Amino acid sequence: MEHRKLLSPSLLAADPARLSEQMEAAEHGGAALWHLDIMDGHFVPNLSFGPHICAGLAKITQLPIDAHLMVKYPSRFVRPFLDAGAASVVLHIETETPEILLKLLREIKEAGAIPALSLRPATPIESLEPYLPDIGYILMMTVEPGFGGQRILPECIQRVRDTRTFLDRKGISAMPIQVDGGVTLQNAGELLSAGADVFVAGSAVFAASDIAARCEEFVRLLK
Ligand code: DX5
Ligand code: ZN
Repeated sequence: MEHRKLLSPSLLAADPARLSEQMEAAEHGGAALWHLDIMDGHFVPNLSFGPHICAGLAKITQLPIDAHLMVKYPSRFVRPFLDAGAASVVLHIETETPEILLKLLREIKEAGAIPALSLRPATPIESLEPYLPDIGYILMMTVEPGFGGQRILPECIQRVRDTRTFLDRKGISAMPIQVDGGVTLQNAGELLSAGADVFVAGSAVFAASDIAARCEEFVRLLK
Protein backbone atom coordinates (compact mmCIF):
# COMPACT_ATOMS: atom_id res chain seq x y z
CA MET A 1 0.00 0.00 0.00
CA GLU A 2 1.21 3.51 -0.85
CA HIS A 3 1.29 6.11 1.89
CA ARG A 4 1.78 9.82 1.59
CA LYS A 5 5.42 10.62 2.41
CA LEU A 6 5.98 13.40 4.90
CA LEU A 7 8.85 15.53 6.16
CA SER A 8 8.94 16.08 9.93
CA PRO A 9 11.70 18.52 10.95
CA SER A 10 13.14 17.82 14.39
CA LEU A 11 13.13 21.07 16.38
CA LEU A 12 16.06 19.86 18.48
CA ALA A 13 18.34 21.07 15.71
CA ALA A 14 16.68 24.46 15.30
CA ASP A 15 18.19 27.63 16.72
CA PRO A 16 16.23 28.29 19.95
CA ALA A 17 16.72 32.03 19.53
CA ARG A 18 15.18 31.95 16.03
CA LEU A 19 12.70 29.15 16.46
CA SER A 20 9.59 30.78 15.02
CA GLU A 21 11.49 32.21 12.04
CA GLN A 22 13.08 28.82 11.27
CA MET A 23 9.75 27.03 11.70
CA GLU A 24 8.14 29.44 9.27
CA ALA A 25 10.89 28.72 6.71
CA ALA A 26 10.51 24.95 7.12
CA GLU A 27 6.74 25.18 6.86
CA HIS A 28 7.11 27.27 3.74
CA GLY A 29 9.39 24.58 2.28
CA GLY A 30 6.81 21.84 2.83
CA ALA A 31 7.29 20.50 6.38
CA ALA A 32 4.17 18.50 7.28
CA LEU A 33 4.55 18.18 11.06
CA TRP A 34 7.00 19.03 13.84
CA HIS A 35 9.07 16.45 15.64
CA LEU A 36 9.56 17.47 19.27
CA ASP A 37 12.16 15.40 21.12
CA ILE A 38 11.50 15.07 24.85
CA MET A 39 14.54 13.90 26.86
CA ASP A 40 14.74 13.43 30.62
CA GLY A 41 18.43 12.76 31.30
CA HIS A 42 17.56 9.17 32.38
CA PHE A 43 16.21 7.20 29.44
CA VAL A 44 18.75 9.13 27.38
CA PRO A 45 21.76 11.11 28.65
CA ASN A 46 20.46 14.50 27.54
CA LEU A 47 17.78 17.07 28.30
CA SER A 48 15.54 18.90 25.89
CA PHE A 49 12.00 20.27 25.88
CA GLY A 50 9.23 20.12 28.46
CA PRO A 51 5.44 20.49 28.10
CA HIS A 52 5.69 24.25 28.56
CA ILE A 53 7.68 24.54 25.31
CA CYS A 54 5.19 22.31 23.51
CA ALA A 55 2.28 24.51 24.65
CA GLY A 56 4.11 27.64 23.48
CA LEU A 57 4.87 26.13 20.07
CA ALA A 58 1.29 24.90 19.63
CA LYS A 59 0.20 28.53 19.78
CA ILE A 60 2.43 29.64 16.90
CA THR A 61 1.92 26.79 14.42
CA GLN A 62 -0.95 25.15 12.59
CA LEU A 63 1.10 22.01 11.90
CA PRO A 64 0.71 19.01 14.21
CA ILE A 65 3.30 18.54 16.96
CA ASP A 66 4.60 15.00 17.32
CA ALA A 67 6.00 14.49 20.85
CA HIS A 68 8.73 11.82 20.95
CA LEU A 69 9.01 10.90 24.63
CA MET A 70 12.51 9.63 25.36
CA VAL A 71 11.79 9.48 29.07
CA LYS A 72 12.12 6.72 31.63
CA TYR A 73 8.62 7.24 33.06
CA PRO A 74 6.26 8.17 30.23
CA SER A 75 3.29 7.84 32.59
CA ARG A 76 4.39 11.12 34.18
CA PHE A 77 4.47 13.00 30.90
CA VAL A 78 1.68 11.75 28.63
CA ARG A 79 -1.05 13.90 30.19
CA PRO A 80 1.06 17.09 30.32
CA PHE A 81 1.96 16.77 26.63
CA LEU A 82 -1.64 16.05 25.64
CA ASP A 83 -2.70 19.14 27.57
CA ALA A 84 0.10 21.07 25.85
CA GLY A 85 -1.45 20.35 22.46
CA ALA A 86 0.63 17.46 21.10
CA ALA A 87 -1.21 15.92 18.14
CA SER A 88 0.60 12.62 18.55
CA VAL A 89 2.60 11.11 21.39
CA VAL A 90 5.31 8.49 20.87
CA LEU A 91 6.31 6.24 23.77
CA HIS A 92 9.42 4.08 23.86
CA ILE A 93 8.56 0.40 24.01
CA GLU A 94 11.58 -0.20 26.28
CA THR A 95 10.27 1.99 29.11
CA GLU A 96 7.28 0.50 30.94
CA THR A 97 5.44 -2.78 31.40
CA PRO A 98 3.05 -3.81 28.60
CA GLU A 99 0.10 -3.06 30.91
CA ILE A 100 1.22 0.50 31.53
CA LEU A 101 2.15 1.11 27.89
CA LEU A 102 -1.25 -0.13 26.69
CA LYS A 103 -3.02 2.04 29.24
CA LEU A 104 -1.04 5.09 28.08
CA LEU A 105 -1.60 4.37 24.39
CA ARG A 106 -5.35 4.19 25.04
CA GLU A 107 -5.27 7.38 27.06
CA ILE A 108 -3.58 9.16 24.13
CA LYS A 109 -6.23 7.89 21.72
CA GLU A 110 -9.10 8.84 24.03
CA ALA A 111 -7.72 12.36 24.19
CA GLY A 112 -8.03 12.57 20.39
CA ALA A 113 -4.29 12.33 19.71
CA ILE A 114 -2.42 9.63 17.78
CA PRO A 115 -0.59 7.03 19.91
CA ALA A 116 2.67 5.62 18.63
CA LEU A 117 5.60 3.47 19.76
CA SER A 118 9.29 3.88 19.13
CA LEU A 119 12.02 1.25 19.13
CA ARG A 120 15.71 1.71 19.84
CA PRO A 121 17.95 0.20 17.14
CA ALA A 122 18.51 -3.06 19.07
CA THR A 123 14.92 -3.70 20.16
CA PRO A 124 13.35 -6.66 18.31
CA ILE A 125 10.67 -5.65 15.80
CA GLU A 126 8.43 -8.51 16.98
CA SER A 127 8.08 -6.82 20.37
CA LEU A 128 5.54 -4.51 18.65
CA GLU A 129 3.11 -7.37 18.20
CA PRO A 130 0.89 -6.93 21.32
CA TYR A 131 0.49 -3.20 20.69
CA LEU A 132 -0.37 -3.16 16.99
CA PRO A 133 -4.15 -2.63 17.45
CA ASP A 134 -3.43 0.35 19.74
CA ILE A 135 -0.96 2.39 17.70
CA GLY A 136 -1.28 4.72 14.73
CA TYR A 137 2.30 4.46 13.53
CA ILE A 138 5.77 3.19 14.40
CA LEU A 139 8.84 5.34 14.99
CA MET A 140 11.98 3.41 14.13
CA MET A 141 15.12 4.96 15.60
CA THR A 142 17.89 4.96 13.04
CA VAL A 143 20.47 6.10 15.63
CA GLU A 144 20.75 5.52 19.38
CA PRO A 145 18.35 8.09 20.83
CA GLY A 146 19.73 10.99 22.84
CA PHE A 147 21.45 13.39 20.49
CA GLY A 148 20.84 15.09 17.18
CA GLY A 149 23.48 15.26 14.47
CA GLN A 150 24.54 11.59 14.56
CA ARG A 151 25.21 9.44 11.51
CA ILE A 152 22.55 6.91 10.57
CA LEU A 153 23.32 3.32 11.65
CA PRO A 154 23.40 1.55 8.26
CA GLU A 155 21.86 -1.65 9.65
CA CYS A 156 18.75 0.34 10.55
CA ILE A 157 17.85 0.66 6.88
CA GLN A 158 17.43 -3.11 6.73
CA ARG A 159 15.36 -2.88 9.93
CA VAL A 160 12.94 -0.54 8.18
CA ARG A 161 12.61 -3.10 5.39
CA ASP A 162 12.04 -5.86 7.98
CA THR A 163 9.44 -3.77 9.79
CA ARG A 164 7.57 -3.21 6.52
CA THR A 165 7.61 -6.98 5.83
CA PHE A 166 6.47 -7.67 9.41
CA LEU A 167 3.54 -5.25 9.04
CA ASP A 168 2.60 -6.68 5.64
CA ARG A 169 2.57 -10.16 7.13
CA LYS A 170 0.31 -8.98 9.93
CA GLY A 171 -2.08 -7.58 7.32
CA ILE A 172 -1.53 -3.96 8.37
CA SER A 173 0.39 -2.55 5.43
CA ALA A 174 -1.34 0.79 6.00
CA MET A 175 0.59 1.38 9.25
CA PRO A 176 3.08 4.22 8.62
CA ILE A 177 6.74 3.91 9.60
CA GLN A 178 8.63 7.00 10.73
CA VAL A 179 12.41 7.08 10.64
CA ASP A 180 14.35 9.22 13.10
CA GLY A 181 18.07 9.89 13.38
CA GLY A 182 20.72 10.77 10.83
CA VAL A 183 18.20 11.16 8.00
CA THR A 184 19.72 13.19 5.14
CA LEU A 185 19.04 13.93 1.49
CA GLN A 186 21.69 11.30 0.74
CA ASN A 187 19.97 8.40 2.54
CA ALA A 188 16.29 9.42 2.29
CA GLY A 189 15.90 7.65 -1.07
CA GLU A 190 17.12 4.37 0.37
CA LEU A 191 14.87 4.76 3.43
CA LEU A 192 11.99 5.48 1.10
CA SER A 193 12.52 2.27 -0.87
CA ALA A 194 12.91 0.39 2.41
CA GLY A 195 9.35 1.41 3.30
CA ALA A 196 9.62 4.57 5.41
CA ASP A 197 6.75 7.07 5.25
CA VAL A 198 7.59 9.92 7.60
CA PHE A 199 11.10 11.35 7.59
CA VAL A 200 12.28 13.06 10.75
CA ALA A 201 15.25 15.28 9.97
CA GLY A 202 16.95 17.65 12.39
CA SER A 203 20.41 18.78 11.36
CA ALA A 204 19.78 17.97 7.69
CA VAL A 205 17.06 20.63 7.74
CA PHE A 206 18.18 23.26 10.25
CA ALA A 207 21.91 23.32 9.46
CA ALA A 208 21.07 24.38 5.90
CA SER A 209 21.73 28.00 5.01
CA ASP A 210 18.34 28.07 3.26
CA ILE A 211 15.95 26.02 5.39
CA ALA A 212 12.95 26.43 3.08
CA ALA A 213 14.96 25.33 0.04
CA ARG A 214 16.32 22.31 1.95
CA CYS A 215 12.80 21.24 2.90
CA GLU A 216 11.71 21.63 -0.71
CA GLU A 217 14.55 19.33 -1.77
CA PHE A 218 13.37 16.70 0.74
CA VAL A 219 9.77 17.02 -0.38
CA ARG A 220 10.76 16.61 -4.05
CA LEU A 221 12.78 13.53 -3.23
CA LEU A 222 9.92 12.00 -1.26
CA LYS A 223 7.33 12.45 -4.01
C1 DX5 B 1 17.57 11.63 18.58
C2 DX5 B 1 16.24 12.30 18.27
C3 DX5 B 1 16.12 12.75 16.87
C4 DX5 B 1 17.07 13.83 16.46
C5 DX5 B 1 17.22 13.80 14.97
O1 DX5 B 1 17.51 11.16 19.87
O2 DX5 B 1 15.18 11.41 18.54
O3 DX5 B 1 14.78 13.19 16.60
O4 DX5 B 1 16.68 15.12 16.83
O5 DX5 B 1 18.21 14.71 14.62
P1 DX5 B 1 19.18 14.44 13.39
O6 DX5 B 1 18.32 14.47 12.17
O7 DX5 B 1 20.13 15.58 13.46
O8 DX5 B 1 19.81 13.11 13.58
ZN1 ZN C 1 13.15 12.00 17.88
